[in-house]
Amino acid sequence: VKVLGSADELSELDALRGPGPLVLVPTMGALHEGHLELVRHARKLGPAVVSIFVNPTQFGPEEDFAAYPRDLASDLELLEPLGVEAVYAPAVDEMYGDSEGVSIRPGHRARGLCGAGRPGHFSGVLTVVAKLFGLLRPEVAVFGRKDAQQCLVIGQMVADLKMPVKLVDVPTVREDDGLALSSRNRYLNEDQRRRAVCLSRALRRARELLDAGEREAAPLRMAMGQELAEADSLEYAEVRQVPDLQENDRLSGRILLAVAARIGPARLIDNMVLEIAEHGVNDSSFFGAGRET
Ligand code: PAF
Repeated sequence: VKVLGSADELSELDALRGPGPLVLVPTMGALHEGHLELVRHARKLGPAVVSIFVNPTQFGPEEDFAAYPRDLASDLELLEPLGVEAVYAPAVDEMYGDSEGVSIRPGHRARGLCGAGRPGHFSGVLTVVAKLFGLLRPEVAVFGRKDAQQCLVIGQMVADLKMPVKLVDVPTVREDDGLALSSRNRYLNEDQRRRAVCLSRALRRARELLDAGEREAAPLRMAMGQELAEADSLEYAEVRQVPDLQENDRLSGRILLAVAARIGPARLIDNMVLEIAEHGVNDSSFFGAGRET
């Protein structure tokens, strides 16, 4: 895979711009099967570029920026068979320089959920995503549905700042027992890994209640909270409307079941996006066909 490290080298991507869209998969590396699924999806849409950059501005001072796994050689090995056109792996200086620069303030979708527990996080995410869009000028960008609020916050930025990029979200990849793949699963020991499955179990429990006809948010929140008793600490177990993440007591239309909990050293998140229709509950997405972001 061709690795591009500086903005000057990015003109090489111009040769890829053609009848099909140039597709960007932004990542922080430490790639796993979930990322590879994003890349496979991207490749179906057009020539694909993967960015690998552990973005310092989206980590809080007490968070795992220093410990976050970095292994470019093994990331490139995983990408090799997937036919990506290039990997953009800039240094921190290349992206930020050394002065305090412009940053992006997220809109209302960043309030609550991870936005409450991680102040400044979404500003860091939006700032780096806007830089990547400016540098690489993709026509399509592919994100993992597991980072639900991130998808919606980026959707709001793209819509409000009139950015000419189409967003796509790809379903979460799970282990056989339901645990959502995450680079942070590497932090778990055997006991923590066993308990980590309580996040996806909580979501399934809420889905069962919905399938049985429950339409009030409170019993769903309570059921998810009970399943998450196995976590070391619960950050949230919420039900929100999509795309604006408002809290309604009575649920209808597109909803997000979202959980975050700490298991040992790892802060883990998981979610389900569902559509409540007249005759039942269906899996849904953020940027599904024809929908406004
Ligand atoms: O989802 C991630 O890996 C990161 O938040 C992203 C979008 C690459 C921005 O750093």
